[in-house]
Amino acid sequence: LRYIPPGYLVMEKCGPAAGWGFRKSVMYASRASAHELKVLVDSLKTVPRLAQSPEVKAMEHIVEDAVKKRAQELRTLLQRHNYRYYVLNEPEVDDFVYDELFRELERLEEAHPVLRTPTSPTQRVGSPISSEFTAYTHRMPMLSLQNAMEPESLIDFDARIRRQLPTLEPESPLQYVAEPKFDGLALELVYENGQLTVGSTRGNGAVGENITPNVRTIRSIPLNLESTKRPVPKLLEVRGEVYMRKDDFLRLNERRDAQGLPTYQNPRNTAAGSLRQLDSSITAKRPLRFFAYAMGTLEGYEGPVIQTQLDVLDALRDWKFPVFRDIAAHNGPGLVIDYWQHMLDTRHDLPMEIDGVVVKVNKLDLQNQLGQVSRSPRWAIAMKFPPEQKTTVVRDITITVGRTGALTPSAVLAPVLVGGVTVTKATLHNEDEIRRKDIRIGDHVLVQRAGDVIPEVVKVIVEKRSGDLIPFVMPTVCPACGTPAVRPHGEAVARCGNLVNCPAQIRQGIIHWCSRGALDIDGLGEKLVDQFVTVGYVQTVADLYRLTHAQLTDLERIGDKTAQNLLDAIEESRTRPLHRALFGLGIRLVGAHVAEVLASHFCTIERIATATYDELISVHEIGDKVAQSIRTYFSDPKVIELLEKLRQGRFVFEEIDNTAPTDAIKGKDLTGTTWVFTGALERFTRDEAAAIVKGLGGKASGSVSKKTSVVVAGPGAGSKLAKAEALGVTVMTEAEFVDHLGID
Ligand code: IVH
Repeated sequence: LRYIPPGYLVMEKCGPAAGWGFRKSVMYASRASAHELKVLVDSLKTVPRLAQSPEVKAMEHIVEDAVKKRAQELRTLLQRHNYRYYVLNEPEVDDFVYDELFRELERLEEAHPVLRTPTSPTQRVGSPISSEFTAYTHRMPMLSLQNAMEPESLIDFDARIRRQLPTLEPESPLQYVAEPKFDGLALELVYENGQLTVGSTRGNGAVGENITPNVRTIRSIPLNLESTKRPVPKLLEVRGEVYMRKDDFLRLNERRDAQGLPTYQNPRNTAAGSLRQLDSSITAKRPLRFFAYAMGTLEGYEGPVIQTQLDVLDALRDWKFPVFRDIAAHNGPGLVIDYWQHMLDTRHDLPMEIDGVVVKVNKLDLQNQLGQVSRSPRWAIAMKFPPEQKTTVVRDITITVGRTGALTPSAVLAPVLVGGVTVTKATLHNEDEIRRKDIRIGDHVLVQRAGDVIPEVVKVIVEKRSGDLIPFVMPTVCPACGTPAVRPHGEAVARCGNLVNCPAQIRQGIIHWCSRGALDIDGLGEKLVDQFVTVGYVQTVADLYRLTHAQLTDLERIGDKTAQNLLDAIEESRTRPLHRALFGLGIRLVGAHVAEVLASHFCTIERIATATYDELISVHEIGDKVAQSIRTYFSDPKVIELLEKLRQGRFVFEEIDNTAPTDAIKGKDLTGTTWVFTGALERFTRDEAAAIVKGLGGKASGSVSKKTSVVVAGPGAGSKLAKAEALGVTVMTEAEFVDHLGID
């Protein structure tokens, strides 16, 4: 018995097989696939007389072998075609051939589940939903980049670096590698012994999310490393950017539109959203791609030495990662600026969006000498492109009434594509801004969008004005309730003078109460709030807590189940932490952070409501304006009535017990020490932590100086942490702080 790939079987001396047609010494050749042979053997085994026969046993072995070989062959073929298609952009076979090979491998793996390795090309289709991503700690932190907004800043960057490298010859220019700054999201890939084992997001730089199943679905990412050009290392970390091509993005939106689904905003957010799906089979259906631009850890590597960023990119290319073609080294900053200009001029011809150029010192030993400041390397900088600008026409100027009654004018624009997003509206901020820019209905204007920021009008194209346009006049009354608008002297914003029953403010206030950062009432969005307000169910947030099942199911499009879910979500919101309720009330100048500060200082809503102005401003981080705003709010009898109604509706304002942590650490004495808390803390708010320090005789301060004893830094810490590092001040994590004080 002998198997001759790709699928010929020659059976010699196949007997005794009386009963199904074979004779001794008969040669039989079949053009069967490995899978069909397996089916044949299985059917032979069902014949009682043959099941145990040595011939069938031998055949079974051979078929198993053949199947294994064929599976390996198919994997190699598919990997090769993937690479040619997604990385080199030079496919060798058409989709039909690829699909055939793919299905053949799928069938083999179905029949022989042991063959289904995690790095098989069939595993790119995603796996069942996971409930959440787990945290992944990067071996080396993933840094971010300092930004340069004008190309000229590169001259300063070059000078700064040169000062830090005293061994450099004054005349010889430094060599820089310039690359596009891909507008996607950062990804780290870990390969152990050539196998992809982890894919993770950047997260806060130190800890990201493990999104391996999603990463496997990205076709341009190799699942295992194979190279004839360079040995594969024991451990390799590759960093790069996941993105969506502009044409793929448009096609995806066309498909969604045809299916009656809402379309996506822009390629970057869509790529980010697609990559962070808990159901990786959704990720698999999105056209995500990858560009590699850096290495993290490299261990057990025995190939040609890697000494420069260009070497890094070459190695990555050899290991078959997609690396952008047009990357080169340039001598000195002048040539890099030329590259930047070239990319700016040609960015629209690129298949993907880029938002600047990243410049890196080419030599890795110089990179090491330069090191990093805070979370960015000193040896690299991002030269951003100026935001894209387009001209369009102002069709109308409308006024929206915000939660705090602010009247904000917006320009309604003829739709225009700016930086990959269709813009139909732009904020005009306030009356003075409109006057300063002299924006009139009918004007041609230049609009821009920088990153995710709301579009804005840069200026009027006066040459295109036809002469008969009437200047805009800000309304003197609220468009929603007709109450005269008030614009206090010295302030830019006009506000509706109706503090309690302006329908627009009520609506916005309720939407805010239900929002994520506030009471987080799942499923209660703008549309439902509108409906509740229109039918008169809800006039204040207190009314939400009196809604009944019958009332809800009376409304259009609300069934039993939706009604129950809503009531459950409302029920759940009754017992949220105090600071969320406080934020939810929508007091002017009381954002999420100030709400936390107030809650942890005063502990109950009564104490906050009755705190005097002096008591309020004595709290760290509460200033004059915030204190005044809080006083004004709680002096309003309608507010007192609202709180009372909330309580009657069984809404619970949390009462914080702040005696516990300080009791537990009575022994410590921090007299003479000054502490600064920065970044996000988990166990305490910064204010609570400061209160603990004060309770133990220490001082808490908002800024870092030489006199600071300790800086406690949580994730997201920025300039304060950098300053502490620069001054050599002790830095602790929150866990170390807790440890230091012996809090349990
Ligand atoms: S290098 C230490 N190269 O920009 C330098 N980053 O703010 C680390 N990015 O999170 C990054 N294109 O996601 C590098 N060619 C490129 C890049 C690039 C885009 C992103 C990356 C990073 C962010 C830096």
